[in-house]
Parts: sequence; C-alpha cells; structure tokens
Amino acid sequence: MESTFHSFLPSTTTAATALLLLSAATATVLVLVFTVIFVNKRRPLKPSSVNRILSGTMGWPFIGETLDFISCGYTDRPQSFMDKRRLLYGNVFKSHLFGSPTIVSTDAEVSRIVLQSDANSFVPSYPKSLTELMGESSILRINGSLHRRIHGLIGSFFKSPYLKAQVTSGMRKLVLESMAAWREDRPIYIQDESKHIAFQVLGKVLIGLDPGEDMEFLRMQFQNFIAGLMSLPIKLPGTQLHRSLQAKKKMVRLVLKIIADKRIHGVAISQDPKDVADVLLNDKSEKLTDKLISDNMIDLMIPGEDSVPLLITLAIKYLSDCPKALHQLKEENLELKRRKNELGNVMCWDDYLSLPFTQNVITETLRLGNIIMGVIRKAMKDVEIKGYLIPKGWCVLTHFRSVHLDDNHHKSPHEFDPWRWQNRDMSSGSSTSFTPFGGGLRLCPGLDLARLEASIFLHHFVTEFRWEAEDDTIINFPTVRMKNRMPIWVKRENYRG
Ligand code: HEM
Repeated sequence: MESTFHSFLPSTTTAATALLLLSAATATVLVLVFTVIFVNKRRPLKPSSVNRILSGTMGWPFIGETLDFISCGYTDRPQSFMDKRRLLYGNVFKSHLFGSPTIVSTDAEVSRIVLQSDANSFVPSYPKSLTELMGESSILRINGSLHRRIHGLIGSFFKSPYLKAQVTSGMRKLVLESMAAWREDRPIYIQDESKHIAFQVLGKVLIGLDPGEDMEFLRMQFQNFIAGLMSLPIKLPGTQLHRSLQAKKKMVRLVLKIIADKRIHGVAISQDPKDVADVLLNDKSEKLTDKLISDNMIDLMIPGEDSVPLLITLAIKYLSDCPKALHQLKEENLELKRRKNELGNVMCWDDYLSLPFTQNVITETLRLGNIIMGVIRKAMKDVEIKGYLIPKGWCVLTHFRSVHLDDNHHKSPHEFDPWRWQNRDMSSGSSTSFTPFGGGLRLCPGLDLARLEASIFLHHFVTEFRWEAEDDTIINFPTVRMKNRMPIWVKRENYRG
C-alpha cells in the first residue's frame, strides 16, 4: 500500500513513469486501484470500534478514497487531499486508501509517536510486489532484534570518519570526471548526471565495487529490478515482476561472488571494514548468512539509489529560482575553496559539511522537496495515541509533507527560505516538525551520506559553473522527480576562489 507515496519507489522509465502521462491518467488510476484491490487482502473494516473516535470518510466500497488521493497526487499540491480533510475532520482522520482502512496523521506529535513505537505496536507496510522483491530478511521488512542489529551496524558504519573520507574522495573524483565532460553547447540533465554518480558511490559503499564492467552490469540489472517495484504482483514468466525477480537473482549472484572473494582474501575478517558488506560479514552473531547479506545489499540500494540524486536535483532547481540564495551559497563555497587553495590542502569530508549556509540549503530542500512524502505503518494491536484509537490491522500514514508545509510549524511554508534554519542544528536529521529521514528505530541510516554527497556535488557545481535552467516542473506522484530531468545550460567559470 505504501508504494504510491514512498520514495523508496524510485522513478523508472517503465510502468511507473508511463503512469504519469496525462493522456494515460484515467487508465493509470484504474490500474492502480484494481492492483491494490487485488493485492491487499486486509482484515475487514470494523467501523464500530473506530467511528466513535475518529472523523473522516471511508469513501467508496473497495476503492475508498484512493481516486481522490491519486488525482491530488498529480497536481502541484498533492497535500490538498489532506488539507481538505483536515479542515473537515482535524489533523488526524480516517480514510480508506489503496485497499486498506487507514488513519492519516498530519499531526507532527502523533506521527512522532508512531515512528518511535516498536514492532509490538507498528510494523512497516509495503505492497505485495515490493515485499516479493525485497525478500523476507530485508532490513526494510524485518523487525525486532535482527533489525536493530543490522540497522545499528549499517548506521555506525555510515557515520564513521573512514567511510566519509572514502565517499568524499570517490565522489569528488566522479563529480570532477563527470563535470569535465560537460559541454556548453548542449543541455546537461542534472537528474541523470547526479543519478549516475550516486549509483557508483552506492556500489562502492555497499560492496566495494569500482567503476567498470561489474558496476555497469549492476546498474542495468538494478533498472530492471526497480521497474517491478510497482507492478502487478504476478510472478509468471513474461510479467514485470518475474523480470525484476530474475534481475535480482543476477545481482545477488554477483554480490555472492564478491562476498566469496572477500572471504578467500580475508578482507572481511579484518578489523578494518571497507564497505557495508565487510561490516555485516564481520558480525559474529552468525545470524547474518551470505544470502541474507547479499539480498540486503540489493535492498539497500532501493532507498539509496534515487533519493540522493533527487536531493541534488531539487537543490539546484530551488537555487536556480532563488538568485539570492545561490549568491550566498556560491560566496560561502568560493571562500572555502580560496582558503584550501592558499593552504594547499585538498578538501576533506568535514570541510564539505562545515559550511552553514550550504547545510541550510540542503535542509530547506529536504523540507520543501519532500522526497519521501510519508511512511506507512500497520498497527499490530489497538493503539491509542493522543486520544485517537488506531485499530489493530489498520494502516497509519504519517504524512511528513503536510507537516513540512504547515504554516503552524514553518512560516511561509511554500517559500524556499534556507535562512529559516540559521542557528538551528539539524544534523540529527529530525525534529518533531521536520522528519525528512523518518524517525525512531527506522531513522534513515543514510542521512549523513545523503548530506555529504549533496554538499560535494553542490560545492564543485557552484564553484565551477554558471548556469541557466530550462523550464521544468517538479512531479510529486507517484514519486518526486523533475518532469524533464532538469536540463540546464552551463558556462565554465574560472573562479579564482
Ligand atoms: C535524501 C536522501 C534520503 C532520504 C530523504 C531518506 C529518507 C528515509 C526515510 C524517511 C526513511 C524511513 C523509512 C521508514 O520509516 O519506513 C529511510 C530509511 C532508510 N534509508 Fe534513507 N533516505 C535517504 C538516503 C538514503 C541513503 C543514501 C541510504 C543508503 C543506502 C539510505 C538507506 C536507508 C535505509 C537502509 C533505510 C531503512 C532503515 C530501517 O528500516 O531500519 N537512505 N530513509
């Protein structure tokens, strides 16, 4: 059920993208609705226990309010679905979306409590095609002690100075190589460029892969794999889901080979893990089999692959529309470049992260861009939060976007205003009214990585180029992205720094 508003579902050029064509909108809606009806075999609604407490409507039989949700999703204000109902029913209301009775929370405090709860109360909920592709022991699906263990191992590795230094040198090389090939006589598609770079960073971080044949193979198979994330849950040969499962098998085979090599060469048993696979191989609990590790390497690409390029692309979109912010960002980065040049030093990871205004631009992009609009949890028992009853078996949609664009929390919320974050430390990733990376036990372990990658790209971009952006619009549904992949025309600048 989560599929349509959770950006773990990357944009693809296949089914999901085709769905966005206006001419196909009607067909899309029907396909989506029927898909979800077939897919979700949820407990029947028990209105008696809920009507007492929560206002809202359950819409039409079977389809509930899904059509309205989707049609709002196609507009530039997807939260209008929520806004209308908030006026009528308050910040938390009931609905029926994608085949499931759902409590929608646009209340920062209620959402925070849902996110903080453990698996006794709420577990993640995904559509069938996605769970098929993820496998049973995916970090995105598992709960309890195994989840805590894997999340903790990955999270601390992503925070380690070693990893940050490695990402910094790798990413800088990729960014500079890529920018060296940019020409002034044709448009550069920022969304594609950043995607290409971020995937290679991910391959290195997860399994130590360098650019080359295996990386290309992985990239191509991954495209086949994600095309099935939003497909009909039918596994027969010839279906998209079948093709995606085949692609995953091929990727897992490659990762298993890499893991076998690591074991032979003893890299993994060293105390000096170089990538996430090493970290998990080093674990002594014996619960992490090679199959579990290789499956998870692919599943980790799902949240990692699309989100960082979008963060970079949206930041460049907002900066293109706000010359004052661009000017300040450029000055700040040029000043750092000048200092480093004078000292004859290469930039290290904490240099990139040290620039307050650059971080404010990234924070504001996360708030306004809402790369992940919200997440879905399923209640494992009746849960009461702030007087609202969430019945067992119901889903809760914690809608971050509504909170991020709520003027009770953020003044002039639709304006790109990086200055609003001045003197506020947002490095922990979230506060009650700002949760781009989620929260609680499932707080995104990749948040530092995302900020670092965006900072590196922005630094080199603004200190080496001037540009003019072509008109482009942000699409919010089913995932956030630029309609035309953000074409820009660049001019190389010889900034002295
Ligand atoms: C701008 C970039 C990113 C954003 C906005 C983002 C956002 C999120 C959010 C909201 C969640 C919580 C999902 C939930 O509660 O169900 C999450 C989880 C996760 N993210 Fe990210 N993410 C980003 C980048 C990354 C990167 C680069 C990685 C690296 C591989 C990553 C790996 C993960 C993983 C593994 C989880 C699942 C954690 C768990 O369930 O324990 N993310 N992310």
